[in-house]
Amino acid sequence: MTRVVAVALDGRSYEVAIGPGLIAGAGDRLSRLLPRRRTAIVTDETVAALHANALTASLEHAGIAVSLIVLPPGEQTKSWDGLADLSDRLLALNLDRGDAIVALGGGVIGDLAGFAAAIYKRGMDFIQVPTSLLAQVDSSVGGKTAIDTPRGKNLIGAFHQPRAVLADLQVLATLPAREMRCGYAEVIKYGLLGDRAFFDWLEANGPQVVSGEPDALMHAVARSVEMKAEIVAEDEKEAGRRALLNLGHTFGHALEAETGFGDTLKHGEAVGIGMAMAFRFSAALGLCPGQDAVRAERAIAAAGLATHAHTLPGWPYAADRLIRHMAQDKKAEGGRLTFILARAIGDAVVVKDVEVERLRAFLRSDGAG
Ligand code: NAD
Ligand code: GLY
Repeated sequence: MTRVVAVALDGRSYEVAIGPGLIAGAGDRLSRLLPRRRTAIVTDETVAALHANALTASLEHAGIAVSLIVLPPGEQTKSWDGLADLSDRLLALNLDRGDAIVALGGGVIGDLAGFAAAIYKRGMDFIQVPTSLLAQVDSSVGGKTAIDTPRGKNLIGAFHQPRAVLADLQVLATLPAREMRCGYAEVIKYGLLGDRAFFDWLEANGPQVVSGEPDALMHAVARSVEMKAEIVAEDEKEAGRRALLNLGHTFGHALEAETGFGDTLKHGEAVGIGMAMAFRFSAALGLCPGQDAVRAERAIAAAGLATHAHTLPGWPYAADRLIRHMAQDKKAEGGRLTFILARAIGDAVVVKDVEVERLRAFLRSDGAG
């Protein structure tokens, strides 16, 4: 069975197809988006070895000529060098503005290939074929594309919507368990920020989602994508409600900055701790009932994700260093700190002008130095 979720953006609307076997059927589904019968698949070495042949075969079967561009795996590929390399390889293939490229991979490949598509000859189409759970539920939908620079993550980029997204649930069978947990952090985020009934369902079914049980996975991915599509359709450029998707990200970002944005603490793991901190902070401010913070923490922990920074190397980190990282985050406006906090499970809210003193007191009560 395939579920289709529409992202309604007037002339730039597109569909997200979710289900098993979508890569095998990609040729038929994507044919109309590739009228010039040629494309380049952009992927990383790990995903290429596992899934590029199936996608290539499906496209070729539909009469589409495929060039494969394989990049090194990992966040470092989402860089100026990675962008220059990819752009040069696209130019060498002599692709035109009327062509579309296919991003086959996790969020790194989707963000990089999407940004390259946004600027290649002033803009070409791209199609997302996300292969990590995180990419299926979050990064492949909504058109945020970016690279990192030495000054920070995702600082150079563009809003550039894909023409289609194919989330093939079968590819998740090869995803390492740690990456499944990282993606699950973004799944639970949707329940916590805006859908208490989905959160209740995740409390009961989270372990089945993380272990890849097909029906549970389908519901979790489809509901996540529905929520993201609805929010993006309402607020494409993050003037308001889209910021709620950053629940847990300000705390998480500070912890990622302390641990070096690498394998020590992956983005999804940082978001897991960050969401638990956001709920604890909300409870400490009297915004949210303490029992909701406890439930949020329990559900995050049930998926095997950490809810405190205590186990991270070098902890305790100085509260003032964490605050400095938060102030550098692009959500800081004019020196005031903006947080996504919660009034309850399923009811997140943007809070501007958070007092640094209250934040410092919370971080210290949470174990920071
Ligand atoms: P990733 O792309 O690095 O993928 C994680 C790892 O899993 C990689 O080593 C990759 O090779 C491997 N992998 C992917 N699919 C696989 C599969 N099916 N089988 C086996 N291995 C597989 O990272 P990610 O977690 O997918 O994405 C993180 C990135 O996404 C970050 O750069 C983050 O900034 C970005 N992001 C973007 C948005 C957005 O809205 N654009 C949202 C969230 C995150
Ligand atoms: N991942 C946050 C957003 O897409 O807005």
